[in-house]
Amino acid sequence: MSFERQKTFFIETFGCQMNFHDSEKVAGSLVSQGYRQVQSIEDADLIFYNTCSIRDKAEQKVFHRLAEFKRLQKQGKKFAVIGCVAQQEGERIFERAPHVSLVAGSASYRRLPEMLVQIGRGERATGLNDRDTEETFETEFTARTNPHRGYITIIEGCDKFCAYCVVPYTRGRERSRTSESVLEEARRIVAGGATDGGLTEIQLLGQNVNSYRDPLGRRSFAELLAEVGELPGIRRIRFTTSHPRHFNREIVAAIDAVPTLCDHVHLPVQSGSSRVLAAMAREYTREQYLERIAWIRAAKQRSIAITTDVIVGFPGESDAEFEQTMSLLEEVQFDGVFSFKYSPRPNTPAIAMENAISEEEKTSRLAVLNDRQREIQRANYAHYVGQVLEAMVEGYQSARNQIAGRTSQNKTLNFTVPDGYAVPEVGSYAQVRVTRAHPNSLVGEMVCAPEVQSAQPDCAVIVI
Ligand code: 5AD
Ligand code: SF4
Repeated sequence: MSFERQKTFFIETFGCQMNFHDSEKVAGSLVSQGYRQVQSIEDADLIFYNTCSIRDKAEQKVFHRLAEFKRLQKQGKKFAVIGCVAQQEGERIFERAPHVSLVAGSASYRRLPEMLVQIGRGERATGLNDRDTEETFETEFTARTNPHRGYITIIEGCDKFCAYCVVPYTRGRERSRTSESVLEEARRIVAGGATDGGLTEIQLLGQNVNSYRDPLGRRSFAELLAEVGELPGIRRIRFTTSHPRHFNREIVAAIDAVPTLCDHVHLPVQSGSSRVLAAMAREYTREQYLERIAWIRAAKQRSIAITTDVIVGFPGESDAEFEQTMSLLEEVQFDGVFSFKYSPRPNTPAIAMENAISEEEKTSRLAVLNDRQREIQRANYAHYVGQVLEAMVEGYQSARNQIAGRTSQNKTLNFTVPDGYAVPEVGSYAQVRVTRAHPNSLVGEMVCAPEVQSAQPDCAVIVI
């Protein structure tokens, strides 16, 4: 019998929630191959670097980090580069960083076990040619690292080919998981157990969840959403990201009807100008976007928060077109905006477009937009002062002696607990009276009135 030491791995992740969740699944598949996850590079035999290439000089950052890893090769450590930069740069990574053993994009993660065998034999392994696959990455075990939220990928890849975006090139073709398998994973997450934690909040993930197509044709996205929300034990369901082109009223109706579906839709608009939207190949106009906003606002039972993404300085964006984005912000009064300067990305059509906007101009537009949005949010958030909202406990901020919470609308609600009351656990829910508002967060105090206490076991008095 051999008593070989169990091999260890460490995984470092950049990018979107999808990427973080991919890392949880990659970790799960390594564990099922007999590896053990460790929390530091020093303790790891194999170092995974899960990369993002959505903006900026992502490639340079990756090569810089890989150069730092090189000295560790002498200790016998191996390196794997995965994710969007891996897919984009491919075998160039071996040329520039010869100490790397494995390069794979997300469409190839299903083949990780065989790639691990290859690198175990001292060979190099690549997973770069699977972007046309119709298969999704299903893992028996997911190493869930978020203590309060279970992520479930429902659709991988993207077929939209927005003119600025690398994702269709890095993540490959759109492919959906069966709704049965999504529901099965959701049940496992709620049930908990050795692997999946007993969580009450689930977030359904996809680059474009509205393109979800059940391969067996059983459920639409809205039906799946509603059915996940109705599973016993579920308290909160979130989903991201929606594409306005396919966002429909059925989704709003589901949110209105199923209380566990959170009061929040993230609906990236990118620009308020129909001309720019057409140049971006977004497949909707300003008016169509506003129509969707009207559907969301018309929900009868719910006040649904709306957040968005905006790109400033897309090639050819005139001052007047930028002003249209500003007027859209005014019109919609978003609850949050993630704003970005346009960043040219390899392989994308926009990289060859004329009339690039200067860096200074992009910086100035971004500042104008952020200043205005801060004021919109200041007014928006102020409305909540005095209200009692349910917050999920996400963590503790010991420096400020506050509990970090999140509302159904996805707003940060940090709060204190009155003296003598037990501090609620991460993943539990508390009723919180909002006492102050900032442009990006709310502050409050947990409500411990007797009538609330009875409905809320977390609000128990500590017996001293
Ligand atoms: N430049 C700037 N922002 C981008 N995004 C995607 N690609 C680019 C790019 N090339 C932004 C979009 C998208 C978000 C995830 O990132 O706003 O919705
Ligand atoms: Fe980054 Fe986009 Fe890849 Fe996510 S899908 S990791 S945001 S490039």
